Amino acid sequence: MERLDAAESVLDAAAAAAPEIRAGLPGRRRYLDEENPSGEEVLAADVFADDLLETALGDLDAVGTYASEERASAVDTGDGPLSVAVDPLDGSSNLESNNPMGTVVAVYDGTLPAAGRDLVAAGFVLYGPVTTMVAGVGAPGEADVYEYLVTADGDREEMGVIALPDDPTVYGFGGRVPDWPADFAAYVDEVEDELKLRYGGAMIADVSQVLSYGGVFAYPALESAPNGKLRLQFEGNPVAYLVEGAGGRSSDGTGPILDVTATDLHQRVPVHVGNASLIERLESALQ
Ligand code: F6P
Repeated sequence: MERLDAAESVLDAAAAAAPEIRAGLPGRRRYLDEENPSGEEVLAADVFADDLLETALGDLDAVGTYASEERASAVDTGDGPLSVAVDPLDGSSNLESNNPMGTVVAVYDGTLPAAGRDLVAAGFVLYGPVTTMVAGVGAPGEADVYEYLVTADGDREEMGVIALPDDPTVYGFGGRVPDWPADFAAYVDEVEDELKLRYGGAMIADVSQVLSYGGVFAYPALESAPNGKLRLQFEGNPVAYLVEGAGGRSSDGTGPILDVTATDLHQRVPVHVGNASLIERLESALQ
């Protein structure tokens, strides 16, 4: 129980940082002459949010390790048992075009890199027209997932539990179409006859549409990148935890993302999340 309270305090701290992160965005839309450990260009806003979250989360007694997509290695922040893995600004390339972005927080009970089964909480802040947080606390499979309004003071006001609608409506798939493997392309052919396309280029915003309307989001394996683009510790695991908590399923193409063996802090993983029926069909298509 203590661990769960501690995990909740990590989510509180992430929500508390959100207004300052949001307020800091307007002057930080420029690219720096730097790349992150995954080889992506870095914006001033990425560094700002990362520094802020390192302090906000790393200062908590329960947190012993802070890791982020923006840093090559994890930072030792004390003796706490929890490790946090953060994508400070998911989808930050959307900043130039002023589209939504998010902050993703994964809370692991153990050292990094960790498997998704070691998560004790996960959440994301969505900087959309309204600042919200979607989060759950507890072991995977036992955690309910809630949506919160994040107030101007950084408090969380619960708005209700999230359950994927039974009738899926939307799909959004990353990667260039000619780069999709043939079996995934064949699955897309089926899905696009049934659902409507919603893709905005920020995982959190695209997953949020799936949580709201039902459907499927994927950043699949590509011909040029067999493990896709998204990172297991910072993106794949937390999003799988949340979608599964909302009654959906996740897959790396063969099985649940939460079962993927963690070998490297910045390892990538193909991500497919959504309604169970759509993920089952995906796994059959990729066999
Ligand atoms: O973290 C990487 C990210 O920004 C995700 O949020 C998003 O799903 C993806 O990249 C978008 O990639 P692309 O620009 O290839 O569509």
